[in-house]
Amino acid sequence: MPKAAIQRKPAAPRVLRGTVYVTRQVHFNAAHRLYNPTKSRKWNEEKFGLCTNPQWHGHNYVLEVTVRGQPDPDTGYVLDLGELKRLLHAVIVDRCDHRNLNEQVDFLRGIIPSTENLVIAFWRELEPHLPAGRLHCVRLFETPRNFAEYLGPAGDAS
Ligand code: NI
Repeated sequence: MPKAAIQRKPAAPRVLRGTVYVTRQVHFNAAHRLYNPTKSRKWNEEKFGLCTNPQWHGHNYVLEVTVRGQPDPDTGYVLDLGELKRLLHAVIVDRCDHRNLNEQVDFLRGIIPSTENLVIAFWRELEPHLPAGRLHCVRLFETPRNFAEYLGPAGDAS
């Protein structure tokens, strides 16, 4: 048999081991109001200032979600970022974008929609859709200068 006709199996890609953190960013716009209905109007105005305006106000939210893991030997991916993008849209953006977070989002009902509370709520919505142990951080920018991040219940102080 001529040498050129010998079919050789391609060498498998070299696999690099290491825990890598991969982030996808998505955007949405939403209205909200910071308000505690059990407190007086004066208390709410003192605590929240303009943020408690009864006629609402809006933010251009930037959501960053980080997953962690070892790169897959076959793809080199920790997680397909296209899949993560679709998940973030289905679970968060499609339900929050151009909505009133106090009144129109089922999983936010009854909470004060501070950035802090939103990252916990978003974690709880996203985590069941990801492979166990993969979700690392949910970071939400309310403005370019104000953001909150949540590392999940494992990071909660007692
Ligand atoms: Ni606000």
